[in-house]
Amino acid sequence: MTRRDEIEAYWESTNTVSLLDSNLRLLEESTVLRYLHRNMDFADLGCGGGESTVRYAAAVKSCVALEQSGHLRAKAKARFDEARLTNVDLVAGSVSDLSKHTGRFDGVLTQRVVINFLSWEEQKAVIENVRATLKPGGLYVMIENTYEGAENLNAVRRQVGLDNIPVHWHNYFLHYPLLMDFLKDKFVLENVHTFDLYYLLTRVFENMFGKFEGYGATAKFDEIFKIADPAARKLFEVLGERLSIKVPAGNSFGPIQAFILRKIG
Ligand SMILES: C[S@@+](CC[C@H](N)C(=O)[O-])C[C@H]1O[C@@H](n2cnc3c(N)ncnc32)[C@H](O)[C@@H]1O
Repeated sequence: MTRRDEIEAYWESTNTVSLLDSNLRLLEESTVLRYLHRNMDFADLGCGGGESTVRYAAAVKSCVALEQSGHLRAKAKARFDEARLTNVDLVAGSVSDLSKHTGRFDGVLTQRVVINFLSWEEQKAVIENVRATLKPGGLYVMIENTYEGAENLNAVRRQVGLDNIPVHWHNYFLHYPLLMDFLKDKFVLENVHTFDLYYLLTRVFENMFGKFEGYGATAKFDEIFKIADPAARKLFEVLGERLSIKVPAGNSFGPIQAFILRKIG
């Protein structure tokens, strides 16, 4: 079995959770929704169980929801049916081959999908594939994790006596300078959104008095996180942007960032 097969099997497993932190998901969704509009032909590439796609589809003209995992597609279908969405086309497929969708979309999203490719070579190919699905001047909202953001967070954790948060085996985080260099003649980087304050509160401060162990579905954590995480989200919504480190310097605090990219050409 290749590493790629193992990753596919991981996403087919019914125990896998795409993002445990539902408050971070809400922040990601609010960020994406700022860039969607009613006239948009949109695609959520690697849509998982469709948790966020339902909100995106409601904001656009049409939405292709592409997902490789059959088990996650079934979940997504149930969600789309329940939401009575009529503008979603749920398709089986891989971001490794998007040739059926060339030049189709005004806007596309990957939300923690590129990081499932374990080498920069594969990641570059995926980004090229995603770019090819866009119409000229189309928008790519890339919500992915950077190595530098994760390391900035871990550096602070270490300084207060906490262990590093490891990168899970099925992920490889993007390296910010390589990413910027690769994107520069393909996209205009229109904006970058970071979640610095939220990460500081939930991954450092709360951990200084609460216990959080494990990853995904097997994570074990104190009850306090259930109260404190929504409070951290509220604080981020109130003043997170003001306290965010400006990213063109590559200094995001926390792994996940939203890169807002406009296709050149
Ligand atoms: C962290 S989950 C994120 C899911 C969704 N974007 C979300 O935010 O809830 C990663 C997703 O990428 C999908 N994925 C992994 N490799 C893929 C591939 N080659 N093509 C399409 N999707 C893929 C997984 O099946 C999974 O749904």
